[in-house]
Amino acid sequence: MVPLSSEGSLTGKAAIVTGGGSGLGRASAIALARAGAHVTVADVNEAGGKETAALVFEEAGGDAEFVRSDVTREEDVEQLVDRAVGRWGRLDCAVNNAGMTGPNGFTADYTLEQWNTTIGLNLTGVFLSLKYEIPALLASGGGSIVNMASGAGLVGFAGLPAYVASKHGVVGLTKAAALEYAQQGIRINAICPGSTRTPMLEGFMGGDPNIERAMTAGIPLGRLGRPDEIAEAVVWLCSDASSFVLGHAMAVDGGSVIQ
Ligand SMILES: NC(=O)c1ccc[n+]([C@@H]2O[C@H](COP(=O)([O-])OP(=O)(O)OC[C@H]3O[C@@H](n4cnc5c(N)ncnc54)[C@H](O)[C@@H]3O)[C@@H](O)[C@H]2O)c1
Repeated sequence: MVPLSSEGSLTGKAAIVTGGGSGLGRASAIALARAGAHVTVADVNEAGGKETAALVFEEAGGDAEFVRSDVTREEDVEQLVDRAVGRWGRLDCAVNNAGMTGPNGFTADYTLEQWNTTIGLNLTGVFLSLKYEIPALLASGGGSIVNMASGAGLVGFAGLPAYVASKHGVVGLTKAAALEYAQQGIRINAICPGSTRTPMLEGFMGGDPNIERAMTAGIPLGRLGRPDEIAEAVVWLCSDASSFVLGHAMAVDGGSVIQ
């Protein structure tokens, strides 16, 4: 019998969260620790990553280690996974969450550099993370990986061509990798958050109440999401409570992409 609540659902497990120094990554790290996991927090932002590791202890009474890691650099990702396995003796879960919206602009106005930077972080970063996490999970006898996609991985948005393409790519990569490793005990899924109040979204809205009103108007529940609401889904997908869920791109978005 699996527990109905997430309490203790990850006891003794070890997890990596990329982009764990802020927003959804921070909330995921804290929620995973509340569920009992040891967490390796990875980020390029040292101050944010260390603060998350401290919050894991203060808010969840859990164990976390911060590792500075840029998910666009293969050697960083390889070292990150080695550090996590070295610290906790195993790897059971990973949340590939580091990402950015990239600049606003229509496709013909986008520069190749803008395109490559956004795809490099949002899509290639997830590929590199999977490449090194999967062997570590196999060595631990299986586990669960959650890739942070977006509603922009399910439907189009004008003015964010690389973001939309990268997040559709994350959903596609999730499905391909899920099929490849299903029989070896690894479940790979994606979460497609709707607009959720994090530093990234605050930056995107730029303090303009009209933008916030317009975004909220597109959400049937009538409000932005909270990071802890996305983190709940992360914990569920990481735990055995979701043992029959594979290759799924799960919208957690107040109903934004219901068609
Ligand atoms: N907030 C939302 O409304 C929303 C909606 C849909 C999807 N998402 C996705 O959720 C994820 C997290 O978003 P957030 O809102 O928490 O953003 P955020 O900006 O608050 O946090 C992102 C974190 O990623 C880190 N990061 C950036 N580049 C990195 C790199 N090369 N290597 C490692 N870490 C790096 C940043 O330092 C930051 O700590 C992103 O993939 C984003 O696309 C967010």
